[in-house]
Amino acid sequence: MERILVTGGAGFIGSCFVRQWIEQELGQVINLDKLTYAGNVDSLETVMNNPQHTLVEGDICNSELIKELLDKHKPTAIVHFAAESHVDRSIDGPEAFVETNVMGTFRLLQAAREYWEALPSSEKETFRFLHVSTDEVYGTLGKTGKFKETTPYAPNSPYSASKASSDHFVRAYHHTFGMPTLITNCSNNYGPFQFPEKLIPLMILNAMEGKPLPVYGDGQQIRDWLFVEDHCEAIRTVLSKGTPGEVYNIGGNSERANMDIVNSICQEVDTRCPNLPHGPCKNLITFVQDRPGHDRRYAIDASKIKNELGWEPKQTLEVGLGLTIQWYLDNPVWVNRVLTGQYRRERLGLKRRSA
Ligand SMILES: NC(=O)c1ccc[n+]([C@@H]2O[C@H](COP(=O)([O-])OP(=O)(O)OC[C@H]3O[C@@H](n4cnc5c(N)ncnc54)[C@H](O)[C@@H]3O)[C@@H](O)[C@H]2O)c1
Repeated sequence: MERILVTGGAGFIGSCFVRQWIEQELGQVINLDKLTYAGNVDSLETVMNNPQHTLVEGDICNSELIKELLDKHKPTAIVHFAAESHVDRSIDGPEAFVETNVMGTFRLLQAAREYWEALPSSEKETFRFLHVSTDEVYGTLGKTGKFKETTPYAPNSPYSASKASSDHFVRAYHHTFGMPTLITNCSNNYGPFQFPEKLIPLMILNAMEGKPLPVYGDGQQIRDWLFVEDHCEAIRTVLSKGTPGEVYNIGGNSERANMDIVNSICQEVDTRCPNLPHGPCKNLITFVQDRPGHDRRYAIDASKIKNELGWEPKQTLEVGLGLTIQWYLDNPVWVNRVLTGQYRRERLGLKRRSA
């Protein structure tokens, strides 16, 4: 049985990873999360009372706390999700991105290195530090081509620059100190429990409520989309089968223009909610000024993880999007607590606050 330290496990992807880990009875999870606006304890409701899950409210920049957690819980692996993750926020206020994504990752690495160096040799060999990163570090593509693990880094936003920097530190800790690190670079995730500042949940909720659907520029920016549950399965695959020091690109084989995603959401919401007074929802689409430095196209070549580790996405975008829309329709309590800010004022079931 594994005993893992997860950072950022109250966020969108991290909470899915934690729920699956506990539901599949894979072992114990120590979940370190600062509970910023993006951390939502409601998303952990099904695992909050499970003795295999311990949520610790704390910051990855706090070296003392990390050391304390490592010494106390002696994890067999660290899976690092914690980050500031929203590109628009990185344009408005880049400093928090440097602090958490760069300094936080550095401090976590440094504490993990000290912990790892002191492990007995058999545990030293099997320990893993898995850093969850993004395809945005590779910059933007023209009409053709895909990002490979060997594509040179060319980050274009403060968010992607901070993630690129953290990736370099993780790489360096393997190269210099021999730490058994793994890096995954993944495309855009979507699915249940995503904070409604990101494209897909924002469009679903605005379409349901009859609010404008803001589309940046001409809406022809192309992204690859991956269902969050598939991403978490890919991370578990890399954790158990990946070679230390290696990088694995993870993608959904689902490239779509943002405009196509918005149109699909409009059609699905029209079908699932035929009596909306403001329908059809496509009438709500509103073009707004493009995001500065907006990358035009991302695409992932995920052949390495498929050929070497046997992972491929299970969900098609069409089915995954339908499931996601239905989840937002079926979970008005989660949605309302997010939209009103209640999820932050009153954190359900949060008892375990400290190490
Ligand atoms: N969402 C995507 O499409 C996507 C795609 C590829 C990679 N990623 C990467 O995956 C990871 C998770 O993304 P997400 O979408 O779940 O993000 P998110 O913003 O939903 O969640 C981030 C979590 O980290 C926590 N956190 C932030 N700062 C912290 C700190 N200093 N100390 C401890 N916890 C802190 C937040 O409270 C939150 O729970 C990030 O590293 C992101 O770069 C995301």
